[in-house]
Amino acid sequence: MINIAFFDTKPYDKIWFDKCSEKHDMKIKYYESKLTPDTAVMAKGSDAVCAFVNDTIDKEVIDTLYNDGIRFIAMRCAGYNNIDFSAAYGKIHIARVPAYSPYAVAEHGIGMLLCLNRKLHKAYIRTRDFNFSLSGMTGFDLYGKTVGIVGTGKIGRVFADICRGFGMKIIAYDPYPSDESLEYVSFDEICKRADIISLHCPLTKENKHLINEDAISQMKDSVCIINTSRGALIDSDALIDGLKSGKIGNAALDVYEEEGDLFFEDMSAVTDRDEKLAMLLSMPNVIITSHQAFLTNEALENIADVTIENVQRFFDGKELENEICYKCLKNECDKKKNGKCF
Ligand code: NAI
Repeated sequence: MINIAFFDTKPYDKIWFDKCSEKHDMKIKYYESKLTPDTAVMAKGSDAVCAFVNDTIDKEVIDTLYNDGIRFIAMRCAGYNNIDFSAAYGKIHIARVPAYSPYAVAEHGIGMLLCLNRKLHKAYIRTRDFNFSLSGMTGFDLYGKTVGIVGTGKIGRVFADICRGFGMKIIAYDPYPSDESLEYVSFDEICKRADIISLHCPLTKENKHLINEDAISQMKDSVCIINTSRGALIDSDALIDGLKSGKIGNAALDVYEEEGDLFFEDMSAVTDRDEKLAMLLSMPNVIITSHQAFLTNEALENIADVTIENVQRFFDGKELENEICYKCLKNECDKKKNGKCF
């Protein structure tokens, strides 16, 4: 029997993970708390840990887990910016779910764009109040507009396909271009030419605050920015300044750089609120969702299937295709030879 300590549990996780783990000799202990240096001890006695995007997997957590005999962390997400891989290397193997539904995330990004541009969020409230006035509801045609896609991996490419359906012009920036059908340009050119900029790249040390004061100053007036990737790709202060000055026309955000202690929780009773987030939420041309772009039945089922399969393969001593380490990130890993990162 493989025992898994499951952190940051939500009801929708349990539905799919219970269904999927039934088919394996596994027992999942669900904890509502996030994985942090304070809660890591709760995993003692387990064989593996299952964690999510806003869990903290730093050196302290890794050392605690390792000292308690844990050798495997199954991330139930694609992103991994919350992990100290060099602290884990040689101690704890880490696997992720590289793709579960690029459609879920891309469709959510498009949904936010349509909502914001055509003021659906305002119309919903207005008509409920029997207010049928159209003042302040003017949007723009997506047809013929230029969308700049930053990161053309699985999600960015689906996003591009959908934009093509709207008759938009597509330009893309990616340090590793992979789609011959796309026109690749520099990031500066994206800033200069795009009416809509959508972020689909991972967060790394190098691209933190990719969208900063300098980048925004190069953008077209009234540009629309969509971020379904990671919050810290955008400097929130620069974003707020850009929105206040009108340089940025609209911002659709599924992620926020300080979301860690907020998103996925009901914070409605808290009065001491994050001031930048409160400022963004007060703006009529901003919509924020709480890191929910992935949240479809199809994605949740795939996440549970692949996560449980990763755990099973690790404990069966099988090749672990979805394992990731800091050497993988530099293409220096021996995984192909050994089946595991170390
Ligand atoms: P992917 O790994 O398939 O593609 C990422 C692409 O970004 C690659 O083509 C890569 O070359 C490119 N890239 C790397 N550094 C870059 C940079 N500095 N500038 C531009 N491009 C760069 O990843 P996928 O599946 O498309 O996911 C993209 C991101 O979406 C993830 O890293 C994650 O942060 C975010 N995500 C958000 C979710 C949500 O619920 N909001 C759910 C899943 C992923």
